[in-house]
Amino acid sequence: MKVILLGATGMVGQGVLRECLLDPDVEKVLVVGRTATGQQHPKLREHVLPDLSEISTIEGELGGYDACFFCLGISSAGMTEAKYRRITYDLTLAVARTLVRHNPAMTFIYVSGTGTDSTEHGRSMWARVKGETENALMKLPFKAYMFRPAMIRPMHGIVSKTKLYRLLYLLLGALFPLLKALFPKYVTTTERVGRAMLNVAKRGAAKPILENGEINALGSPDDR
Ligand SMILES: NC(=O)c1ccc[n+]([C@@H]2O[C@H](COP(=O)([O-])OP(=O)(O)OC[C@H]3O[C@@H](n4cnc5c(N)ncnc54)[C@H](OP(=O)(O)O)[C@@H]3O)[C@@H](O)[C@H]2O)c1
Repeated sequence: MKVILLGATGMVGQGVLRECLLDPDVEKVLVVGRTATGQQHPKLREHVLPDLSEISTIEGELGGYDACFFCLGISSAGMTEAKYRRITYDLTLAVARTLVRHNPAMTFIYVSGTGTDSTEHGRSMWARVKGETENALMKLPFKAYMFRPAMIRPMHGIVSKTKLYRLLYLLLGALFPLLKALFPKYVTTTERVGRAMLNVAKRGAAKPILENGEINALGSPDDR
């Protein structure tokens, strides 16, 4: 399987990249991002592009892939809707439309988050914009799956690029086992998210929108 990964330098993306590199079924991972991961691996290729909205400039290199794991995303904290939408909706759709032209049979997995608003009309700005993004992706002619994780525990030394999350995970770190025991449906790990993506890319899933509990089931350790 050949995979394109967006957001590989982020917390979710680092976890997904780790699982891709470990999986014997993955023969190649192309990372496209504005920042290099700094990692070296025989399966890994990287394309650093300062402005990802110009992804069509590297179209020639984007054909022949089986899956795209789209882990790029930002926090809406302190952002206007227009600015949040530019990255969350516009950038995601620019990348997806380019990829689908070259890989119509591809599986495209987008990381949104629990609470995403499929109606696009709720009160929460981030949830509306992510809902709109999910809905637009699901209309494109590839196999699209929406991952809606809740609280993600970073594993294997992975850290978030978002200051707010880094602080949150520092505070919550010791509480994760307790939170997992109390709210198993709302806690997952970077490892489970990565494994679940690989499983969905290989075998599909029963439905296009996958909530945290379903991600945990699809990414269970026995399922590698
Ligand atoms: N962390 C969680 O617990 C959690 C839970 C549920 C859902 N999510 C969702 O999962 C997604 C990823 O979250 P994360 O925690 O991995 O975030 P993160 O650690 O902040 O990483 C964000 C990633 O997106 C890239 N990125 C952001 N803006 C970009 C832009 N304008 N152009 C190119 N690349 C850009 C970053 O690249 P650079 O290295 O170049 O900055 C980085 O690779 C987000 O949509 C988030 O809402 C996260």
